[in-house]
Amino acid sequence: MIPSGLTALIYLVSASLFILGLKKLGHPDTAPRGNQLSALGMLLAIAVTLFNQDIVSFWVIIAGVFVGSAAGLWMARAVKMTAMPQMVALLNGFGGGASVLVGGAEFLKADLLGTQLPVDTDITIQLSLLIGAVTFTGSIIAFAKLQELMTGKPITYPLQKVMSSLILVGILALAVYQVITPGAQLESFYIIIGVSLVLGVLFVIPIGGADMPVVIALLNSYSGIAAAMTGFVINNSVLIIAGALVGSSGIILTTIMCKAMNRSLGNVLFSAFGSVTAIGPGKGAEDRTVRSITVEDAALQLAYARLVIVVPGYGLAVAQAQHQVRELADLIEKKGGEVKYAIHPVAGRMPGHMNVLLAEANVPYDKLYDMDQINDEFPRADVALVIGANDVVNPAARSDTASPIYGMPILDVDEAQSIIVMKRSMNPGFAGIQNELFFHPKNSMLFGDAKASLTGLVNEVKSL
Ligand code: TAP
Repeated sequence: MIPSGLTALIYLVSASLFILGLKKLGHPDTAPRGNQLSALGMLLAIAVTLFNQDIVSFWVIIAGVFVGSAAGLWMARAVKMTAMPQMVALLNGFGGGASVLVGGAEFLKADLLGTQLPVDTDITIQLSLLIGAVTFTGSIIAFAKLQELMTGKPITYPLQKVMSSLILVGILALAVYQVITPGAQLESFYIIIGVSLVLGVLFVIPIGGADMPVVIALLNSYSGIAAAMTGFVINNSVLIIAGALVGSSGIILTTIMCKAMNRSLGNVLFSAFGSVTAIGPGKGAEDRTVRSITVEDAALQLAYARLVIVVPGYGLAVAQAQHQVRELADLIEKKGGEVKYAIHPVAGRMPGHMNVLLAEANVPYDKLYDMDQINDEFPRADVALVIGANDVVNPAARSDTASPIYGMPILDVDEAQSIIVMKRSMNPGFAGIQNELFFHPKNSMLFGDAKASLTGLVNEVKSL
């Protein structure tokens, strides 16, 4: 048994490590160190808790640590980068589920022993149950949508907002009744959990697959809040701090994503984005022709360009072509050209997706430019090379008020001297709408898998 003062001190050290780790995650150079510091903080917190709480036998906990670590290790290695959002969704769900179990266990223990829970503990138990259960089923639905186990389209029904609001009010009323009534009320305890689980489903099914990353960040925040509530229930300060950190960073991330798409959180949650087929410039695309280019011609343009701005998107991640991009950039630079990378804040499927991908191929970080830094440079670029990006370069976001992505800030690739778009077909991107850029007179399409096309370009540029 460790003295309580020492326990509190070690908890403080692990909380500081979490904060330091989060701060270091802000830059790719320091991010690996940030991860290590946070992991060390977590290890300290778990070890100290193990030595202090005799909740179940020591060996059961050790077995849990092994099983959990093995599953986590397997997921981290086996899950592809493109499937990260659904993995995060699942992990959020586990967090929410854990809060329900811990909060519920404390409630049932009080019932079994016939003790009266203090009001503050009872309130935090009710909140753990509500937020944890909503997070659990909401995250499972988000996972199922992204994994295409169910339709990604919004599932809407009449009076959807009213019904969800009424259910929420009902749960809160029951929770208040639970707190003010002496003795544990088992029926309302089970009803609160059951109905909160249903609310989680109803909360996420009306939201389209295209908005799932935002929902996942929000649910991530909920799982943190639920964990913080559970920390109050079992009086564990490190759980309160870690939960609060996850809760606040999840909200910040949600806000950043909404801003980058120029949409409010209310619009993301309640507008059923993606349920209708878009109208606007994309319509009638099949009647128009696009200019396609061969690998040889594209290589000629790139080899003699003074400035090439590469615009990576989700398709680059699908093709896993980051190493080939780096190779091509090196060749262009050897021939005297300059290569810059334009990173849109929501390119890919999660925040920082493109930065991580390019960092893996050792693309120097100082060659990556945020949208605001690079947009003015497009008119100077001889070639804008768009690789597997679509929505983030769609000019309809600037000009077509009827477009579902209207208002989303985009990379101004149409300002470049010439544009080459690399993708496999004329299929739309995540938002499901046609892209006017493909029909632009300055644009040429290089059709094919990004990795195969880039390999072809590398070979061609080498031979020039
Ligand atoms: P998208 O608009 O989804 O376009 C990706 C394009 O890549 C597709 O049009 C696809 O066309 C192409 N592609 C797929 N596999 C390919 C391959 N193997 N080789 C070559 N091309 C391939 O991607 P984006 O421009 O990065 O935009 C991101 C979208 O995600 C936006 O709508 C954004 O709002 C949404 N979103 C992102 C986030 C974050 S934080 N990143 C959060 C919420 C929402 P083909 O099928 O024809 O090849």
